[in-house]
Amino acid sequence: MVTLDELRTRASGCTNCDLYRDATQTVFGAGPPGARLLLLGEQPGNEEDLEGQPFVGPAGRILDRALVDAGVDRAEVYITNVVKHFKFKRMGKRRIHQTPTTSEVKACLPWLSGELDAVQPEVVATLGATAAKALLGSSFRLTQHRGEVIDYEGLPLVATIHPSAVLRIRDRQERAEALEGLVSDLRLAAKVAAG
Ligand code: URA
Repeated sequence: MVTLDELRTRASGCTNCDLYRDATQTVFGAGPPGARLLLLGEQPGNEEDLEGQPFVGPAGRILDRALVDAGVDRAEVYITNVVKHFKFKRMGKRRIHQTPTTSEVKACLPWLSGELDAVQPEVVATLGATAAKALLGSSFRLTQHRGEVIDYEGLPLVATIHPSAVLRIRDRQERAEALEGLVSDLRLAAKVAAG
């Protein structure tokens, strides 16, 4: 079996799709090899691209808060993304996130597959529709199945919203409710992970 360190080294030179051309670096997963819970996001954002670590920007701060509220220690979780390079469009000085295409997701999946083999988590929690669809297929509807324990090739999977969805909500009350939903889904995933 290929180790996470070996995979990380190999992924740093990945040219499976064109996203490596504009991104600063490959942002591989982070966390202990024996993590019971694997969190799966979409792709690194602006700050992740610069730092080389997943979920360290604004969405990461929401995720951190949700993990604390769910009683989950981030240091014990393996956190990664479906796509390992930041896809963006330049608007003046800003780099605006672009959703990866199906073929970019496909090109990156071997890395996730390697991470799943190396970590062997007890449960996967997908954050947002891109991550859920990458594993469960394009017909998967997050709105219908979020917060359920779903079977993914024999592995329990909990699909929840992306932390950035919480950030986008302007109304205070609605934002608090969305965060609470994320927390409760993460709590469920942690419960399944604990066995
Ligand atoms: N959004 C993601 O899906 N992943 C990150 O690492 C950061 C933001």
